[in-house]
Amino acid sequence: MINKYKLADYPQIKIVLNHDLFLSLECFRHHAKISCLQHTLEVAELTFKITRRLGLDYVSATRGALLHDFYLYDWHKDSPGLHGFKHPAIALRNAKQVFDLNPVEENAILRHMWPLTPLPPRYPESVIVSLADKTVSIRDYGYIFLKHPAFSMS
Ligand SMILES: [Fe+2]
Ligand SMILES: [Fe+2]
Repeated sequence: MINKYKLADYPQIKIVLNHDLFLSLECFRHHAKISCLQHTLEVAELTFKITRRLGLDYVSATRGALLHDFYLYDWHKDSPGLHGFKHPAIALRNAKQVFDLNPVEENAILRHMWPLTPLPPRYPESVIVSLADKTVSIRDYGYIFLKHPAFSMS
């Protein structure tokens, strides 16, 4: 899936995609059986597609999308509490320890949970990351509910 839009052709995106700590997101559950890695790749792919179409800084937007949930724990078991509110700042702190981030990338990570968190995204690119995250998450939860035995037609 990630090769569909050839994200790895872009060196600044490839740096994130190939990093061991980024790949460790596969170990953390995000929604149901969906890993944080799968979730972030899907958010990044959608972000890339939209921001490139709009003529925005799609490389920064995609890097921000890849790192927006870089909090590195299973929030079902190991959350520090108030995960929804706290994880953007945790993800940003972790990401800054590993990658050189520009202001667009930092803002995309820090503000992606708006309006749950009070301050809105500052840049068009970070708005798109926030919308892409919600789009992918809603689709994931829809899939989970449709797969639930209570919704089974058989
Ligand atoms: Fe998040
Ligand atoms: Fe997310």
